Amino acid sequence: MEILFAPLQGYTEAAYRTAHHRHIGGIDNYYIPFVRLEHGKLLRRDVRVLDRAAADRGVLPQTPQIIASTTAEAAAVVLEITSRGLGHININMGCPFPLLANKGKGAGILPHPDKVHALLDEVLDRATGAGATVSVKMRSGWEKMQESMALLEILNPLPLTHIIMHPRLGRQGYKGECDMEAFARFENECEHPLYYNGDLTTAADITRITSAWPRLRGVMIGRGLLADPALALEYSQGAPMPRVARLAAIGKIHTDVYAEYEARIEGGQSQLVKKMQAFWEYLLPEGDRKAHKAIRKATTTDAYLRAVNTLLAGA
Ligand SMILES: Cc1cc2nc3c(=O)[nH]c(=O)nc-3n(C[C@H](O)[C@H](O)[C@H](O)COP(=O)(O)O)c2cc1C
Repeated sequence: MEILFAPLQGYTEAAYRTAHHRHIGGIDNYYIPFVRLEHGKLLRRDVRVLDRAAADRGVLPQTPQIIASTTAEAAAVVLEITSRGLGHININMGCPFPLLANKGKGAGILPHPDKVHALLDEVLDRATGAGATVSVKMRSGWEKMQESMALLEILNPLPLTHIIMHPRLGRQGYKGECDMEAFARFENECEHPLYYNGDLTTAADITRITSAWPRLRGVMIGRGLLADPALALEYSQGAPMPRVARLAAIGKIHTDVYAEYEARIEGGQSQLVKKMQAFWEYLLPEGDRKAHKAIRKATTTDAYLRAVNTLLAGA
């Protein structure tokens, strides 16, 4: 039973993944938020993302992810990844953001089996030629769950290593319940190793899913891990991490992430504070609500760090 850390653009960046792995762990693989082409080139930010992933090979188990709608785009991004010696590529067919989905990227590609087929063929061709393997992260559909069922005809025969299924529709965004019936039907007919993804926030949630579907290769968790970074470890060890130890570990992760952004971010204190505020958005070490508010309101690093210290002191 593997546990994968889901990619969340803006939250699970390299600094966070590295610090989480160092101070808590319990994760089999960290998925990197998608990289993409814009105007025919990788974004500068994404060049850094892939260079860093290549540098961290062997230190941090992680998987780069691409998002693309055309075969030309996909071929170019795959080359960026394989030329850096990264050996596995995940294809995003789940992103619901309209700006991308309207261009047939992410979940926007799901209603178009012909486009999915062309994209996967291209990525598999290029990746395999360079010695890399390929997996897919997808939703149950854009408009209706029948879309993912129809895609199984294409997906099943292809040499994918695995599929990660988030059983929501693209048009739902992140709202509403996961559709467990859609997941059950997909699981029943999917011939690839499968991971479940969506709304797992406690060790009991993970157990519920893995008992219901014993054939699963594992689960992928995003927001649940950001809220409780020890969740995977707690599941595998069968016991909750004591509160004091958890706060201490969160403190260490925070110190590393802060140090990295402090060294890198240009644009002064307010930029740094803004960037760090995202660290706390999902994270709720049960504690001082006043300190939480102070973190959100801080505009200087002094005020920010004072609030963080109060929160982590275990109020
Ligand atoms: C802010 C945000 C950014 C995300 N970025 C990505 C991404 O880059 N790639 C991806 O495949 N999924 C992305 N996701 C989806 C998550 O990986 C995950 O599938 C989703 O949050 C459901 O899992 P969870 O309930 O465990 O968080 C993002 C989700 C959110 C809320």
